[in-house]
Formats: sequence, structure tokens, C-alpha cells
Amino acid sequence: MRRFFSILLSISMILGLAGCTGAKPTEPSENNAFVIGFSQVGSESDWRIANTKSMTDTFAFDADYEFIMENARQKQENQFASVRRFILDGVDLIIIAPTVEEGWLTVLTEIHDAGIPVIIIDRSVAVWDDNLFLTNIGSDFLRQGNLAVEWLEKVTAQEAVSEEEEPDGSTPVSTTLKILHLQGTIGATAQIQRTKALEDAVATHEDWLITSQLYGDFTEAKAYEVMTEYLKENKDIDVLYSENDNMTFGAMRALDEAGITYGEGGDVKIITFDATKEALQYCLDGKINLCVECNPMFGPQVKDLVEKYRNGDTIPKHVYVDESAYTSKDLTQEFIDARAY
Ligand code: AHR
Repeated sequence: MRRFFSILLSISMILGLAGCTGAKPTEPSENNAFVIGFSQVGSESDWRIANTKSMTDTFAFDADYEFIMENARQKQENQFASVRRFILDGVDLIIIAPTVEEGWLTVLTEIHDAGIPVIIIDRSVAVWDDNLFLTNIGSDFLRQGNLAVEWLEKVTAQEAVSEEEEPDGSTPVSTTLKILHLQGTIGATAQIQRTKALEDAVATHEDWLITSQLYGDFTEAKAYEVMTEYLKENKDIDVLYSENDNMTFGAMRALDEAGITYGEGGDVKIITFDATKEALQYCLDGKINLCVECNPMFGPQVKDLVEKYRNGDTIPKHVYVDESAYTSKDLTQEFIDARAY
């Protein structure tokens, strides 16, 4: 019976998404299809929507697969409930995009004991026994953070040199770089590693200061709320280090309302993570200084790993997706228009 309801759920989800894409879903076949249960984090960001689409486009229209996706609405306990349903349904493989890193040992052990293989995507899980999952595919979030701080080091060094070249001959007074830090879901790999890169860099630059860490939960609405409140009392910001694009959009709205300028030539330099189409457009228009890419379009790579597993091939324990970072100089309108997310 449960399996019947799951099949109904997967059909209705596929049909819902098919409505958006215009593609025709395949009918799940109870007898032959390889059944995948996928626990997705939620729909908190444009990145997440693109990732869901990549996964769905990859699996839901392939007759070899039956793809059951459940949206955890950013709650780990919802993921536990989904996974336990997948175990009862007897799926062939479980894919988890974990909300946070901690707390997975019990449920991963339950999956292991049921003999079901697991693939972790996007973020990671903090378990000492990596036999509890086949592979972990997603971003190198620490590298993303390091790309951001390296860029900040470069531009601040260039600005210091141009100040030394001031015609009045005076020695410039060294000033503190005030960094406002907007954080995503606390405990998620994307938050932990992007935060680590910034905090490590601040520890080695005595003129860099994190003035505040605000909790934006990776959503535009939360970031707008906390930024609006913060800006009532504090307006002295040199850099906004925002851990995803949607929080950046909320922050930009709050900065506009507070009358604070940002971007190229503005008061606040903005660094954002994801590099979605909308953020890249703001970057090309001079409103965002740096977009660090977080690539959500790895559905086909996940499928490749699943197929390798099914063929009995060995697969790497960790796979990182290709990513880059962009300033306005790296962008053209054609590049942005052609982008998939
Ligand atoms: O884990 C990836 C992060 O999660 C993305 O940066 C963010 O937009 C999403 O919510």
C-alpha cells in the first residue's frame, strides 16, 4: 500500500514538474524500473529549484528509473521520515541532500542495515564511517569561500596602492575593513565551509573585521528581515559577505531602503555565492562585485555514478563539481542569457 502511495506521489510530482518544463514524463514501471528515493532539502533558493530541476530532468523522464522525490522543507526530521518511508517502500537506492551535517548516524545505519545504497549530494554528512554511503557529490564549499577571500585580498591591496599614489604626498592611515557576514542554515556544509574561509582570512588580516554575523537561513525573506533590523542601528559597512544569492537579493532591498549604495563605486562591496542568472545580471550591471559559483546542475553526474554502481564499477568517495567565480569583467550578456540557472 505504501509503495502504491509513493508511486502516486512520484507520478503527481513528475506531472507537476512536467507542467513547468513541457516534457512528457515516463510512466513508472513497478516491475522493471530502478527505484530511487530522493530527499531534497527544500525550495529555499533559486539554486535549490535549479538543482531539483536538474535531478528531476535526469531521472524522472527515463523509463529505466522510478524517481520519488520528497521536499524536506529545510527540516532534518522531515528527511528522516522520508528516508524511513523509502526503506519501508524497499527502494533500490536512496539519494540524500542533507540539510545539515550532524545527526545522520542512526538513519544512515538503518539504511545500511536494510541493504540499500546511499548517495549524498550537494552538502555532506558528518559520520566517521564512510562505508555508510557510496559517494558524496557536490561543491567544494571551502574552495568557494577561498575564491571569495582571495578576490577581497586582491581588490583591497589594489585600493591601498592607489591610495598611496594620492597626490598630496601624505601617508594613508590604515583603516579597518568592516565585513558584514550573512550566514545560511547553520550546520549546513555550505554555511560551515564558506564561514570557515572568511573567519580564517580575518584571523590572518589584522585590518579585517567581521562586524556582525546575521542569520539569513539561505532565504531572501529572512535576509531582508535581519538586514532591515540591523541597518536601523548600523550603517558602516565596507563589505557584505553573503552566503547565497537569495540572501543577497534580500539584503540589497534592505540596503536600498536604508539609502546605502553598493556594488562597483558604491559604499558596500558585495560578495555572493551561487552565481545564478539573476545575480550574474546584477554583477554585469555593477550592483554585485563578485559572484562565486555553486553549480546545481549535477543531475547527469549523479546518474553516471548510479549507473557505475549498477554496473559494479568502483566509484570515488568524493566528487566535486566544476565551479568558477565572476566579476563584471568576466561577464557578457550572451553568457548570462545562455546560462541554465
Ligand atoms: O548547499 C547549496 C546551498 O544551498 C546554495 O548556496 C544555496 O543557495 C542553497 O540553499
